[in-house]
Parts: sequence; structure tokens; C-alpha cells
Amino acid sequence: MSKLKINFLNHIFLKDQYSFFYLYGIKREKVITADGSSTLYMEQWDEYYHSMHGAYNEAMHVYIESGLSFWKSLNKINDKTCTVFEMGFGTGLNALLSLEYATENEFEVEFETIEAFPLSFLEVQDLDFDSLFPSKNYKSILKKLHLSPWEKKNKINPFFTLLKNKILMENFNPVSKYDVIYYDAFGFRVQPQMWSEETLGPIINALNRNGVFVTYSAKGCVRRSLESLGLEVFRIEGPPGKREMLRAIRA
Ligand SMILES: C[S@@+](CC[C@H](N)C(=O)[O-])C[C@H]1O[C@@H](n2cnc3c(N)ncnc32)[C@H](O)[C@@H]1O
Repeated sequence: MSKLKINFLNHIFLKDQYSFFYLYGIKREKVITADGSSTLYMEQWDEYYHSMHGAYNEAMHVYIESGLSFWKSLNKINDKTCTVFEMGFGTGLNALLSLEYATENEFEVEFETIEAFPLSFLEVQDLDFDSLFPSKNYKSILKKLHLSPWEKKNKINPFFTLLKNKILMENFNPVSKYDVIYYDAFGFRVQPQMWSEETLGPIINALNRNGVFVTYSAKGCVRRSLESLGLEVFRIEGPPGKREMLRAIRA
């Protein structure tokens, strides 16, 4: 390839060392977190998919308890379907825990998620998430979640419908409205563009009234972006190992 062509490609794709195109070739390894649940580590970025203080505990605290369950108690609704949007399907842990919550509480969740860099099912199987629920047959549920076709709604069980979109967040134009948003991008240090007002804007505009946005991040600039996008933002207690996280509401 000519030098000119290489320079051009570098200019377009590799703006910095954390350009999202690096994710295509990146190596991941399984690691065990403090609560015994597993996650993935990317050495090139020195970044994890979940908190090392406990992947399961973090997902439960940030997304299920502070997001989905909070929305349910705020809206005091038992018969309305809850529409959830997740930025970053990844290992599918948040989707699995949301399915578990919806099934246990017998209310319907329509779960839409986007993922630009899907993991292989072999990588996911190796994380043993089904062992978090020894009394349930979640091996087959996890398989259903991961092997669900892209861009097609799939009813996983009577309480949980999944729609996965294989797309970059930066190119995603929401057509639906959401009650709950789980914002689970990699950290600001490695993906600053994912936390900008410009990237957050379209998804925040798709949040329903009394809708709830949650993220593990507690960064001041993220809080200010959410505020300028019209949300009421609260710093609340974070998951184990983290003092604070953000929850925002469309009043
Ligand atoms: C912190 S991980 C969280 C994954 C997931 N929520 C889980 O429980 O495993 C961030 C995820 O966002 C995806 N991602 C990163 N940048 C993205 C982008 N620009 N557009 C869409 N997905 C992206 C990554 O591939 C990764 O799966």
C-alpha cells in the first residue's frame, strides 16, 4: 500500500490510540472479580468490561437496582411494558440480570441494545454467568441472548423481548422511546468521545418522561452534559469499591 494511502487511513481511523477501530484486533482475557463473578480484561487498554470489585454486584447495583427497579417504584406501574435501552451489549450480563428481574417480578421488559464489537459466544460461555443462578437453567437463556439475530426482535421468554443492533453508538438514531437507559461504555479515559454531549444527545432525547438514565460513571463532565441535555442529575451511592455513580431523570 502506498504511503499516501496509509496516511489517509490513519487520518480517518486512528485518530488516537483508543480509536474504536483498535477494538477490532484487541485481545481479551477472562479474569475473576472480587465477588467471584468473571469479566474480561483488555491489556492494550488496561480496561475491564466490569468492575474488579465485583462484576455481578456492580451490574446489580448500577443497572438493576438503581435503574430498572428504581423506574418501577418511581412510576408505580405494574402492567406497562418497560422499554430499556443499553449502550454496549458486551457479555450480556446486564441483559441476563434484567431478564431475571422481569421474570421474578412478572412484568414485561422490551430490551434494546447496541453493540459494535460483539464477543464470540465461546468467550461468553467461558465467563460462566449461568452459574450465578444455580437453581435455574440460564445456560440456554444466555445462548438465546447471544445467538439472537441482529436487528430483529426476539421473545426470549414471556417477560423479556430482546432487540440487538450491531451498530456504533455514534451512528445510532433511536426510533423508539425508552423508560430506562443503561449507559455502559468503556471508561472516559479510553473512550472520551462516548461521554460527550454530542454522543449522548440522541439517546437522551429518546428518554420518556419519568424515564431513568443510569451509568457507573460519576464524572463531573458527564453530569454537566446530562444536565445541559435537560435531565435532573443525582450523584447516588456507587457499587462496591466506588463511592458514587450517576442517575438522571427526565422530569
Ligand atoms: C464496559 S463494556 C460493557 C458491556 C456490557 N454492558 C456487559 O455487561 O458486558 C462496553 C461495551 O460497549 C461496546 N462499545 C464500545 N464502544 C462502542 C461504540 N462506539 N458503539 C457501540 N458499542 C460500543 C464494547 O464493545 C463493549 O461491549
